[in-house]
Amino acid sequence: MENKQRIKRLQETFRKRYEDTGLKSGVFAAPGRVNLIGEHTDYNDGFVLPMALEKKIMAAAQLREDRKVVAYDMNYEPEISFDLDNLVKNKENNWANYLMGVADELQKRDYQLQGLNIVLEGDVPSAAGLSSSAALEVVTAMAFDRLLGLEVDPVEMALLCQAAENNFVGVNWGIMDQYISRLGREGHALMIDCRSNEYELVPFQNENYRIVICNTNVQRSLVDSEYNRRREECSKAVDFFDSKLDKKVTALRDVTVKELEQYESKLPEITAARARHVVTENRRVKESVEALNEGDFVRFGQLMYDSHESLRDDYEVSCEELDILVELAQKQNEALGARMTGAGFGGCTVNLVYEKSTSEFTEALHRGYKKETGIEPDIYVSFPAPGAADFDKEIW
Ligand code: GLA
Repeated sequence: MENKQRIKRLQETFRKRYEDTGLKSGVFAAPGRVNLIGEHTDYNDGFVLPMALEKKIMAAAQLREDRKVVAYDMNYEPEISFDLDNLVKNKENNWANYLMGVADELQKRDYQLQGLNIVLEGDVPSAAGLSSSAALEVVTAMAFDRLLGLEVDPVEMALLCQAAENNFVGVNWGIMDQYISRLGREGHALMIDCRSNEYELVPFQNENYRIVICNTNVQRSLVDSEYNRRREECSKAVDFFDSKLDKKVTALRDVTVKELEQYESKLPEITAARARHVVTENRRVKESVEALNEGDFVRFGQLMYDSHESLRDDYEVSCEELDILVELAQKQNEALGARMTGAGFGGCTVNLVYEKSTSEFTEALHRGYKKETGIEPDIYVSFPAPGAADFDKEIW
């Protein structure tokens, strides 16, 4: 559905549910994302290369006189509400925690908040590794920011949304998802340096190629515990390299491929494999940016395949269904590259495909996956979309 229609539907739903408070109102959006390459590198102070999706969460919101937030999500029943002076985790409706977490982090940073009525709707599939939760956090932060004139710096907004998820929802994710949802740029991927939190724009629009996302539609069951486990394994590797190398090592970002090769045999096998993934993945991101800047999509595609192999064998965050999808892509001439994207253990693959054969590719993938797994996949063709938006629209 077009933005215009979605905005209209949100405004109408809002007017039906809530009284006009006479205070400032607006309509906002924040997108999901797909990571092109650079997986499990963000929390190692490394590099990532995501792009924002056209799929997004949209919100119509209006300030209230009091300190209550009342939220209705058109995709979920029922309405939730909470008090800005009493933020306690909601056990029945988990999505409320993302809004509360954002409010909490804003208040911790001394931003003065006020209550809101807010209606939400979205088309980012949830639990698919396309960051619907980051989109929900960022759209909430945008609503508070714009309606109250807080002027939160975009990178600070991403960081506080990440903190909301870590502190209020409870998984220790990295910065990538909130960052790209807030700062994404149309027609571009962003190479984010997750140590300095700066980014480089990488043009990603070429008539001859398409990004195709394929959703395994399997639930990401182990993801939270395994994610935290990977973080611990990485920090063990950091301690090791810090004690061995003649320089300060505070994250795997500080270790070069050469240093890794020199010492990996001295590490326990699993720790070495985890470090190998992160160190080589950082290099692949840099090489990908070079390839894309030169318009070398064939090289970029190969790096995607290499990334998948590393995630599957060294980092062990893939699963059977993701591997099936990547193998199916690899068997077809239409694809230049494919890999799992996001945290893993389910979710989606991202594929680089020749534009002229996009439909043959998606059909073959659909057929092949269904045949091997019995599961119907969802497939989306995607273009790099803008990050969070304020549509400059009133509700009444
Ligand atoms: C999840 C996290 C990100 C990142 C990816 C893996 O999406 O939210 O911060 O760590 O996994 O690359």
